[in-house]
Amino acid sequence: MCGIIAYNGQKDAIPYLIDGIRNLEYRGYDSFGCAVDTDDGIIVKKDIGRIDDVVEKYKINAMSAKRAIFHTRWATHGSVTKDNAHPMVDCAGKVAVVHNGIIENWEELKSELGTHKFVSDTDTEVLAHLVEERMKTGDSLDSAVRYTFGRIKGSSSFVVLNKGNDEMVAVKKGSPLVLGLAKSGTFVSSDVPSFIKHTNKVIYLNDGDMVRISKNKYEITNLIDKNIRHKINTVNLAVKDLGKGEHEHFMLKEIMEQQELLKNLESTDLSATQKAAALIKKARTVYLVGAGTSFHVARLGARLMRDNGMNAVPVQGQDLPSYKKILSKKDVFVIISQSGETADIINSLSVMNGNKKIGIINVEGSKLAYESDILINVGAGPERAVASTKAFTLSAVHITLLALFAAGKKKEALRDLNLMNINMYNLLVPSVMEAIDRAAQRIKGLESIFFLGRDYDYILALEGALKLKEIAYIHAEAIDAATFKHGPLALVTNKTYAVVIVSEDTKKDIMNNLQEFKARKGKLVGIAESNAESFDLFIRMQSGGVFTFVMPTILLQLLAYKTSRQKNIDPDYPRSLAKSVTVL
Ligand code: AGP
Repeated sequence: MCGIIAYNGQKDAIPYLIDGIRNLEYRGYDSFGCAVDTDDGIIVKKDIGRIDDVVEKYKINAMSAKRAIFHTRWATHGSVTKDNAHPMVDCAGKVAVVHNGIIENWEELKSELGTHKFVSDTDTEVLAHLVEERMKTGDSLDSAVRYTFGRIKGSSSFVVLNKGNDEMVAVKKGSPLVLGLAKSGTFVSSDVPSFIKHTNKVIYLNDGDMVRISKNKYEITNLIDKNIRHKINTVNLAVKDLGKGEHEHFMLKEIMEQQELLKNLESTDLSATQKAAALIKKARTVYLVGAGTSFHVARLGARLMRDNGMNAVPVQGQDLPSYKKILSKKDVFVIISQSGETADIINSLSVMNGNKKIGIINVEGSKLAYESDILINVGAGPERAVASTKAFTLSAVHITLLALFAAGKKKEALRDLNLMNINMYNLLVPSVMEAIDRAAQRIKGLESIFFLGRDYDYILALEGALKLKEIAYIHAEAIDAATFKHGPLALVTNKTYAVVIVSEDTKKDIMNNLQEFKARKGKLVGIAESNAESFDLFIRMQSGGVFTFVMPTILLQLLAYKTSRQKNIDPDYPRSLAKSVTVL
């Protein structure tokens, strides 16, 4: 995925957009670029590397213009090079385009535009040339864009700037795009935080929306359905929530915010959960769909539903088509996604057609939020670090509430939520933080490590291993401790490490498994409520009734964060990754 922000209005666009694009850097950080409409024509500056470095290198903050488009890229088509950085321009340098998505038929379109000069390996470049081609035949900018929209296949949102034209035109197809309506002009962007300092009035665009943005006004036309109406929403997002606060990284800030967010949940309106629970209760089968970290939430929710007598199956988006033949109209889908724009899930929506969908989603106005019949907003607030932390925890807590409400255990659920919040105050005490530091120090040099757990703890092991891989670049494999003896045990030597989660519920059974590991001289980092002889290092966790899983989750997040830092890695921007994955 990529980040787009553009502005057309009465004020200088450049400072607004430099600040805005920094808030979209989580969407990709392979390269950055901008096209600025000046009296001397459209000036394009772009390069590989982080936004601030490119801004500095090309003195972009010394430019001034009322209209400009900015872009931050996560490479899909074409490697990470300056030529492949957006914006893309046409042959005459009069049309500039920034794009988020994938044009599936770009090769076919490119060969159709045979006489045009292409300079990149990207799919995006065909957009600039298609618009140029139509404008050459006399089309206005908006009709050339309309034509272009009709020709491209796949999920693509883009903004076009045209030399000497007061308007810029934006189109949404699949990838998110939102309008920000400020007094001084109009923003169009991939995400609200990028312009929240200037306005909290937003319109979430629908697929097929084309917006003509001039200095003083905007006009939306839907190219698919003329009857679509657009509502102006007032977003409740504080500017202070966008920064790193007192922390060195967004990831640490987001881990540390969890305590307060979980406490706030006790006074949150849970009527959507109540409604969703009524649907779950009537369902024949509940399919819980997610990807990556969100799939771990799906596993947790499905396990809890099954333990409460419901028929529940966790599925990764890409596997959903294989369930098609066994689906019934009485089945209900629960979609879990932080971003609400993960392609694997969006692509599986057609399988869910005709069934009720409950969304457990963090980003308001996202595609998956829009597609949900009942939306449970996770309420984690903007999550900027690539590794999901607070959104995982909040989604997992919400799915637990949903499962327990459906099981008729609302009272117990709320009681345990309160208990967990109380015990949370004892979780991150100095001795525990020091223990995590020691563990990070010990594992940072490893090439490989196991994460072990049984039952629910195994799901947390999966999550802990994913976090460590993602931001500390250590191969981490989660294994259900019960199955370790069926093969993986052969790998254990005196150099083998495992992080093991031992909650009180699994303690009795897992201790035998750990003995087998220790007998081969393996080393254990134990996360448990009390120390055990088999642990070489011990990190103390707390209990929280049915929400106990929150405790090791936070400790595992910190272990990954601290290991990453000890390896001098920037955990907010791990190599090769982007926050949400909008490709299949
Ligand atoms: C989480 O740390 C990862 N960055 C990744 O696995 C992520 O959870 C996955 O891509 C799904 O994203 P979503 O929740 O936005 O759908």
